[in-house]
Amino acid sequence: MNIMIVGATSAIATATARLFAERRDHLFLIARNGERLSDLVADLKVRGAQSVGTLTLDFDDFSTHLSAVTEAANFLQQIDVALLCHGVLPDQAAGEENFKLALNAINTNGISVISLLTAIAQRLRTQGTGTIAVITSVAGMRGRQPNFIYGAAKALVSTYLQGMRGRLYEHNVHVIDIRPGLVDSPMTARFEKGLLWTTPEVVAKTIVSSITKKKHTVYVPGYWRYIMLLVNAIPEFIFKRLKF
Ligand SMILES: NC(=O)c1ccc[n+]([C@@H]2O[C@H](COP(=O)([O-])OP(=O)(O)OC[C@H]3O[C@@H](n4cnc5c(N)ncnc54)[C@H](OP(=O)(O)O)[C@@H]3O)[C@@H](O)[C@H]2O)c1
Repeated sequence: MNIMIVGATSAIATATARLFAERRDHLFLIARNGERLSDLVADLKVRGAQSVGTLTLDFDDFSTHLSAVTEAANFLQQIDVALLCHGVLPDQAAGEENFKLALNAINTNGISVISLLTAIAQRLRTQGTGTIAVITSVAGMRGRQPNFIYGAAKALVSTYLQGMRGRLYEHNVHVIDIRPGLVDSPMTARFEKGLLWTTPEVVAKTIVSSITKKKHTVYVPGYWRYIMLLVNAIPEFIFKRLKF
């Protein structure tokens, strides 16, 4: 398969790219850090990737998105899968005091994804085939006190994906919303880990199988579907008092 990965040097994307490489897929990787991208290319070639193209990009520069997708399509001939993985976990308290910080986080986690999706959807619609998979988060399912700036941006993307899935269905393009819970990665390095935590490798396996099985909304690990059912069932007059 021909796979474009946006945010390819993220821990979850890297673990997923390794599984694609082991299948001998063709890959086009886009990420901000050129040095880490080069290291990843070497790693993926050793693991079996048939070809690996790269592009270094800061996704906050929306003006580059259309040409980035064109470059990926030119390299891969056809984009079978577009996987979007980038994101930042902002300082919630700081963002509540300083709108610029909140805006930066919403731009990266939300608006940049919508901009990229616009370019990718155009391309896949024209091809008449393909799968778009985006990593959002269970944090987008209910605004919680400690992370509602991050959660709001992820909710924006999840809602967008839901509508886009219907729009692209008749064009034979499939859309997957991947919602991890707590993953031990550089993004969460400062948190203490516990029972509910998982690894990028576990998320990667689920991403690969969800693409094969053409899933729609995927919780990783699966128990987060039930945790979020419970969280969403808490009445607002209680929920507003919860600090977690
Ligand atoms: N870890 C979790 O618990 C968890 C839970 C739910 C969802 N997620 C989501 O999973 C995805 C992957 O996260 P991860 O856990 O693998 O964390 P990670 O390793 O910290 O990856 C985040 C990636 O996003 C990239 N990035 C951020 N802003 C960017 C920008 N403006 N332009 C280009 N690249 C940018 C970072 O690039 P640099 O390395 O250059 O900074 C980094 O590679 C994210 O969408 C995240 O929100 C994570």
